[in-house]
Amino acid sequence: MNKQLQKVLNELPENIAIYLKPIVENQDFYATISAPQFEKLIKQTGLSDKNLRLALLPLAASYSISPISNFCVGAIARGLSGHLYFGANIEFPDAPLGQSVHAEQSAISHAWMKGEQGIQDITINYSPCGHCRQFMNELSTAQSLMVQLPEQDEKSLQQYLPESFGPKDLNINSRLMDNNPLTHTISNGDELLNKAIAALNISHAPYSGNYCGIAIMLNDKSVYCGAYAENAAFNPSLPALQVALIQMQMAGKDFSTISSVALVELKSGKISHQSSTQSVLDTLGVAITLDYLEI
Ligand code: THU
Ligand code: ZN
Repeated sequence: MNKQLQKVLNELPENIAIYLKPIVENQDFYATISAPQFEKLIKQTGLSDKNLRLALLPLAASYSISPISNFCVGAIARGLSGHLYFGANIEFPDAPLGQSVHAEQSAISHAWMKGEQGIQDITINYSPCGHCRQFMNELSTAQSLMVQLPEQDEKSLQQYLPESFGPKDLNINSRLMDNNPLTHTISNGDELLNKAIAALNISHAPYSGNYCGIAIMLNDKSVYCGAYAENAAFNPSLPALQVALIQMQMAGKDFSTISSVALVELKSGKISHQSSTQSVLDTLGVAITLDYLEI
């Protein structure tokens, strides 16, 4: 467990800590709270659904990697299954700021990579920036998504983003987290390439056609995958590398333990992530050349 998480856990009010500690201190804890666990916590603590989510926010924010701003943002996304997923911002020293991950993107892509097909609500410790509002407007559940902030009434995403621009304006019908997988395979790929292709198959890239996936292997042989999440407004798109790094961050893994990275994208795409992925990877100080494949 990271030190910051331990510290936050120790600072929680005792009536919450006694019920939460066994969940968070379990070695299988993976920055998520299942729907049954959440319901049980509501009963045990006597907190409302909203107040329990707000009480969990410092735990999510403890995952923040923010060496540039020292500003720890935490988000908790509830998937359609009722499962709650933590997310936190990530900043990359030596890379352009545009490569940063916002906490909202982290929690949402965390839920996506764990198989969720939509987000019911998101709880955040600061007001979501314009970029995140736009990112969330790409979701399968953009019309129903609710946003909860501390000391605020819950509001819908559409209230936070009036007169919104979105996929419809570009005549696009697919949405981020839609369950509409592609079926690409290759016959002779190694394990890591096949996992990157599995991520490519769930990626969302209707604007550029650059369906793209990443698989990262660590020194301990564990593998973390990321699918590319494209956005109608282009710039809020979240690269596959970042999505995979979020999975690592939420599993408490250190970026310095990366041993190999496979990136697969479609030949027919109008853009490429090869050079930007390599350059962000270079800033992590792992001296790895991407294993790159176009299919
Ligand atoms: N940040 C978020 O994570 N979400 C927002 O919507 C506001 C900004 C992060 C990005 C960066 O790491 C830091 O906060 C300062 O902007
Ligand atoms: Zn944001």
